[in-house]
Amino acid sequence: MSVEVPAGLTELLKGYTLEVLKRRPADLLEFSVQYFTCLREQRSSSRASSSRSPVTRGVAFDQDSAPTDSSEEEEEEDDFPEDFTFKAPPPSKCNRRVSVCAEAYNPDEDEGDESRVVHPKTDEQRQRLQEACRDILLFKTLEQDQFAEVLDSMFEVLVKPNECIINQGDDGDNFYVIERGVFDIVIQKDGVSRCVGCYDNKGSFGELALMYNTPRAATIRATQEGALWALDRATFHRLIVKNNAKKRKMYESFIESVPLLKSLQLSERMKIVDVVGMKTFSDGQQIIRQGDSADCFYVVESGEVRIMIRSKTQAGQRSQEEVEVARCSRGQYFGELALVTNKPRAASVYAAGETKCLVITVQAFERLLGSCKEILKRNIQQYEQQLLALFGSSVDLKH
Ligand code: CMP
Ligand code: CMP
Repeated sequence: MSVEVPAGLTELLKGYTLEVLKRRPADLLEFSVQYFTCLREQRSSSRASSSRSPVTRGVAFDQDSAPTDSSEEEEEEDDFPEDFTFKAPPPSKCNRRVSVCAEAYNPDEDEGDESRVVHPKTDEQRQRLQEACRDILLFKTLEQDQFAEVLDSMFEVLVKPNECIINQGDDGDNFYVIERGVFDIVIQKDGVSRCVGCYDNKGSFGELALMYNTPRAATIRATQEGALWALDRATFHRLIVKNNAKKRKMYESFIESVPLLKSLQLSERMKIVDVVGMKTFSDGQQIIRQGDSADCFYVVESGEVRIMIRSKTQAGQRSQEEVEVARCSRGQYFGELALVTNKPRAASVYAAGETKCLVITVQAFERLLGSCKEILKRNIQQYEQQLLALFGSSVDLKH
């Protein structure tokens, strides 16, 4: 009996087998579902793009824009895109990846999968997304076109109260930027769950598992209704992790020269480089406002900052007049006090001339600089002495 091999079957199985051998998935069935789903989506999108516009070739569209006519699919069963490359599964918070890509990521070996994922957005959505991403440190060192690509790839995720967006121990699927909502950070250790902090209507999370190919380090739970923007793992790797390799080269020697960070191991210093952002301030621009709540810590990379304090009047009110108490220049840090005392900012800080600062979020500060807290506390006494010399009355900055 002769059996006719359907057109395209050999190619299809060859591609699939190679991908399995390359990635060695822990769960073959799950991997296969994701592989073929991804293949079908890429085929749909290359068809859609050829009839839309050349710039959208290779793009994965939202489900509603994918063709639904099954007879068309039957007719063109063997018509797969020639340039098919397996990417992360379709972006869905529910459709989490299962160890598809457990190998450590090495940007130097990345040959550059240029296939882009675009999630079409209305003007209103794009505006909200841009606003949410404005202060995201991981995006600060991207080139303009890379940032635009990140925005194109992001998709909106609405969350309900008590919903877990990330579960500790899971594989990483997406990186999330907060548009609105409050999210608890819960870490389970030795069988005990502890809330170690929260994100309050701003910030981002979920970068660690994607950067280091590790299981999720914490559970992130929404305490109320909220909205997030997600960036899929593949795009995060292609744009952010690759950019981190450049960042390491740029900031390595500076970070090594910062006295505070000398006590850390090289790998710990590199983890700081991976999550820092760089911000430039113009002459006179306010960086910190006295009395505000704190969400980050700064190290001066170039230029200088002025630390200014409004003293208290006899009646205990803050006077309007600010007095300069100190200056910080290259290698020195500021904005640590509120983070180690859990109090509002004790002073205002302004750029003196154009100034560049490395910025570390409070969450990264807690995670990476915990071991430096004792060193950081040493400055408190010095601050109190400065204030005593200036205002003639003792100030307790710790309590
Ligand atoms: P990831 O491990 O991918 O998923 C959980 C996220 O929680 C983690 O990335 C960080 O973005 C975030 N996070 C915030 N605070 C902490 C912390 N103290 N330890 C670990 N992860 C934290
Ligand atoms: P923080 O209170 O978070 O924000 C203002 C920063 O100014 C503070 O942390 C210190 O890093 C810095 N600073 C420098 N000198 C003083 C001082 N004499 N009193 C208070 N803050 C100071």
